[in-house]
Amino acid sequence: MEAEPPRHTPGSGPAGWWRRRSLRFRLTATASAVLALALAVSAYVFVGVLGRALAGTIDDEVYQRAREVVALADAGRLGDRIVTTDNTIVQVLDASGRIVNATPGTDRLVPLLGADRREGAVRSGRPVFLDGRPYGIPGPLRARVLSADAGRTVIAARSFKEVQGSLTTTGHVLIVGTPLLLVLLAAASWLVIGRTLRPIALLRRGAAEISGTARTRRLPVPESRDEVHSLATTLNDMLARLEAADARQRALISDASHELRSPLASIRLQLEVALSHPEGQDWRETAEGVLEDTMRLSRLAEDLLALARLDEGRTVRREPVDLAALAERAVERHGVTGDIASGVTVDGDALDLGRVLTNLVANAVRHATSTVVVALRAEPPGTGAPLSGTAPGRGTAGVAGEGATRADVAVLTVTDDGPGIPAEDRERVFDRFTRLDSARSRDEGGAGLGLAIVRDTVRAHGGTVHLEDAAPGLRAVVRLPLAAPETSR
Ligand SMILES: Nc1ncnc2c1ncn2[C@@H]1O[C@H](COP(=O)(O)OP(=O)(O)OP(=O)(O)O)[C@@H](O)[C@H]1O
Ligand SMILES: [Mg+2]
Repeated sequence: MEAEPPRHTPGSGPAGWWRRRSLRFRLTATASAVLALALAVSAYVFVGVLGRALAGTIDDEVYQRAREVVALADAGRLGDRIVTTDNTIVQVLDASGRIVNATPGTDRLVPLLGADRREGAVRSGRPVFLDGRPYGIPGPLRARVLSADAGRTVIAARSFKEVQGSLTTTGHVLIVGTPLLLVLLAAASWLVIGRTLRPIALLRRGAAEISGTARTRRLPVPESRDEVHSLATTLNDMLARLEAADARQRALISDASHELRSPLASIRLQLEVALSHPEGQDWRETAEGVLEDTMRLSRLAEDLLALARLDEGRTVRREPVDLAALAERAVERHGVTGDIASGVTVDGDALDLGRVLTNLVANAVRHATSTVVVALRAEPPGTGAPLSGTAPGRGTAGVAGEGATRADVAVLTVTDDGPGIPAEDRERVFDRFTRLDSARSRDEGGAGLGLAIVRDTVRAHGGTVHLEDAAPGLRAVVRLPLAAPETSR
């Protein structure tokens, strides 16, 4: 795995160098360093324990020999020469410090230990080290001194060379073996970490291959059910959401351009016809036609702007809005029937809420056979469904929370006695650019953005909107949280 080019300069010095290494290298190096330390400590402890165990064995044997000789001496059965089966050498000294007995080949003139050390060793009852070279024995000796009857002293000693040899051999094995083991383990770590990181490398490569124009924008998901798997699925979910948002955006642009084209074509046609036959042209009629198309264009532009603003998700302005007054004004302007309770105030943006009313009343007026009724009331707590529950399948969690804490809701309904909307289309019409009566002339209907703006605005105010059957006709129901008492007064 190659090191990634650094995003920000990691600095110079050892820390910078270390940070520039690949993750694989750093993980392997760290694991190996810890391992090396553990192995070194283990080897050290092992050699120490082994040495102590071997020395213990020798001490036991030497003590055993010494005891035997003391027993023989005390029993007076000690010959001139002492015979031992192992390589222990023994000297028996009389009270004046002269050697009276010894194992064959042992110095019979000079005691292994001087009088001072002998006394010390007897008193402490512990084995002592002494150099064997003056006595022709290579390496150190382990000796034990015991006192026997009649002031005699028994010195038993044995070469420590074997133990030293064993320890040296063990040390050599460890010095060669430990680094070898370390190298093996480091290599294994390198491989295992490489395998572990491979899905991440694949993810990275997959991400690098994703371009703005690629058909499918998905990252490879590893088969293992581990963290990398969940990372890949989470990232893929995110990509899917981005893709959906992107698709919506493209559709919106294409729909919007489509909607812009027809009034522009109409304006152009009217002007071209008028200019090619200027004689006998009713310029006033032409101007009126062009003006009508221009109004359509500017309405469309305004609607798109409103949607873009709502899409930005900026929190709406929160000020007490007299919804009753807004409704009264809409009733007057469109000449429809009103059934409006006074003093219903909500928190929000008066312009946005005014647009909600205008859009709903305009729809109702356009489709009504004879009457349109705008009704507004405040529902006391407990009546009606909770705020979020009124929008079938579309309720948002945030709104539900808000609805639960609010005491009351404002319920605004706009009812007409027109053809209504079939139940299966009552959600669909809230989508952008959705028109059911597309067969109708364009002049009569708009672009199909009205209800989309209504829903986005109501949601931004923490409320819900849905359509229901008014038998005959259609009723649009908007529920908004009432203004908190302290702000409404
Ligand atoms: N009161 C209603 N009765 C019957 N159908 C309706 C009613 N209100 C809306 N619709 C249907 O829902 C569709 C979408 O309405 P919406 O308000 O979103 O768009 P529009 O009125 O066609 O255009 P715009 O509101 O942008 O001028 C309408 O085209 C219409 O078919
Ligand atoms: Mg409309």
